[in-house]
Amino acid sequence: MIFLFFPFLSAQLLYPYPQIQSTESLELLQIITQQQQCSHLYQHSNHQNIHTQLLIQAILNQWIKCAKIAIQYYNHKQFDLYPTFQNIKLNHNSKLNQTLFEQLTKLLPPHSPFLNVLEPSYLWAQNMTHVFLKIKFTTKIDVPGAQTVNKFLINITEPSLYIEAYSFELLNRYVLRIQTYKFMNPNYFHHKFVELGQVIIEILKSPSPYFWKNIHSNIMYNPPNQYIWWDMYYQYRGQLEVAFGLLEDTENKREEIERQKLSEDLKLRESKKQYNKIKEDNQELYKQLYCRFCAPLNGDEWSSWII
Ligand SMILES: *[C@@H]1O[C@H](CO)[C@@H](O)[C@H](O)[C@H]1NC(C)=O
Ligand SMILES: *[C@@H]1O[C@H](CO)[C@@H](O)[C@H](O)[C@H]1NC(C)=O
Ligand SMILES: *[C@@H]1O[C@H](CO)[C@@H](O)[C@H](O)[C@H]1NC(C)=O
Repeated sequence: MIFLFFPFLSAQLLYPYPQIQSTESLELLQIITQQQQCSHLYQHSNHQNIHTQLLIQAILNQWIKCAKIAIQYYNHKQFDLYPTFQNIKLNHNSKLNQTLFEQLTKLLPPHSPFLNVLEPSYLWAQNMTHVFLKIKFTTKIDVPGAQTVNKFLINITEPSLYIEAYSFELLNRYVLRIQTYKFMNPNYFHHKFVELGQVIIEILKSPSPYFWKNIHSNIMYNPPNQYIWWDMYYQYRGQLEVAFGLLEDTENKREEIERQKLSEDLKLRESKKQYNKIKEDNQELYKQLYCRFCAPLNGDEWSSWII
């Protein structure tokens, strides 16, 4: 019987891989001997494809340990499981325990040559205290996106927002990075999956309340995959308009002050120019009137007044 477990055991013996514990291998042994299908698949071939069939069976039958150990084994062999996971999603989705599938996706490495890396579309809005985002996993908002994503990650470091998710059906990895207008509070945010695989994110601003002129630190930045979330915007329109009014007032005041300062500057500069001009003129006059002989002149003039 022992030859049946050869791939796992050989991995154990040849490469001491810390995540595959020998106790787990023993458990795997027990699981495989208990689960007839699993050992049946092993008996037939050592071919990679049969092994991934084993993994698919293990996942569909929720043989959790068996599936985890198999995934770690493949990772260790640098055998790319993304196509296998795509196969499971495309062909066995209705039989799949989604919670378990999500747990198992987290064991896969973050990169694979099979993955396209894309930036998702997003709508954004705000009220005075929070920023709201709705992410749609497609590059164009009017094109249907991935209906389900896995390995969803939000990372808020104060001035930046990082979002990542994977679609196993489409073999897409979605990555969104935003350098935000102001800081966010990394301890107060939450997200919720809604219809059509979209995700809503709500983040507390820091400082809060505060009006953001854009979601980006560059207030002119408006990439083609960015949209205003009008429904949300209208919900808080009142407070935003007040804030916007105040902002405009302050900006107007600031502009007025700047204008005044500028004109004073100009006046000052102008008067300085005039003063210099007068000074120069005076000097000229002084030279002409009183100082005709006080400075050495050039040769010609010098010779002309030698008596
Ligand atoms: C699905 O998998 C999770 C995690 O392994 C488990 O807790 C849950 O009981 C499973 N659900 C069903 C319906 O089998
Ligand atoms: C902004 O929206 C959040 C979430 O809906 C809500 O809890 C908060 O009270 C709102 N803030 C203001 C100032 O309306
Ligand atoms: C979040 O981002 C920071 C800075 O880029 C990084 O150090 C940290 O490991 C990230 N956390 C996660 C959970 O990815």
